[in-house]
Amino acid sequence: MTQAVKPMRVLAPASVREGMSQDFKAEPKSLYGPDLTGIRFKRFENPHDVGIAAAEAVAALLAEKPNASIVFPTGKTPLPFYAALRQMPGINWEKSRLFQLDEYVKPDLEGPLPYQTFAEFMQRELWQFVGGQKFYLEQYFDCPLAYESLLTQNGGPDLVILGIGGNGHIAFNEPGADPDSPARLVDLAEQTMQSNFGGVQMPGWPVQAITLGLRGILSARSILMLATGPNKQSIVRRAFDPASEPNLDCPASWLKRHPSVTVMTDFDAGL
Ligand code: GLP
Repeated sequence: MTQAVKPMRVLAPASVREGMSQDFKAEPKSLYGPDLTGIRFKRFENPHDVGIAAAEAVAALLAEKPNASIVFPTGKTPLPFYAALRQMPGINWEKSRLFQLDEYVKPDLEGPLPYQTFAEFMQRELWQFVGGQKFYLEQYFDCPLAYESLLTQNGGPDLVILGIGGNGHIAFNEPGADPDSPARLVDLAEQTMQSNFGGVQMPGWPVQAITLGLRGILSARSILMLATGPNKQSIVRRAFDPASEPNLDCPASWLKRHPSVTVMTDFDAGL
């Protein structure tokens, strides 16, 4: 009996690949040149549908590769995604390897933290409900590079899921981040603190974070960006504008250099 040949690597989750072609408005090659070949835009009716499609992408990846390494984001945008994912039947998480994308650095405080860590977020939204090996960034505050090595030792990321900040940040790679930037300690941009903490910066709230760098993100076999709501439209357009080169002012623009990126939106990215 002949055995089916397994693909050597998963370039993009099957359900993400399927149904993409009708959403293409142009051949990516003609947009970005020979080494900038793979941005796919997929538009949905609403954030809920984006969440379902993203959850299906994760399910498809784990069906193809049960021990996949997946990097997960926090934020408001992925909430419908996590809701869909924890309700999705038939996913076997046991061999999966689940990583955080970024984490606030805890201030030196006595008593309970005045804010939620991203580890708590991941635990609450998904990780408490699923099996698999979970990797928490807070153990790597003193050695972020070791976290990146851990990801590499686990086969490198099969899928990195991202949101996007209003200033074009991905994870906590703020404007100015180099495309080769490693996992590291970063200062939060003013705009990020405004948006994440509702415009107030209370004593004891984070001013720094640990983030996977652009280097680690771009090392993923596939990248899935979720962007919903009218306030994300202009930054998505700016990040993926085919007329401009990737640049330091907009960290997300470096995704144009990656061979397999899917951007799921509930608006017309105009691209
Ligand atoms: C945060 C996170 C990012 C996230 C972004 C957008 O600061 N570090 O990973 O993508 O901001 O968050 P939201 O989805 O809430 O707009």
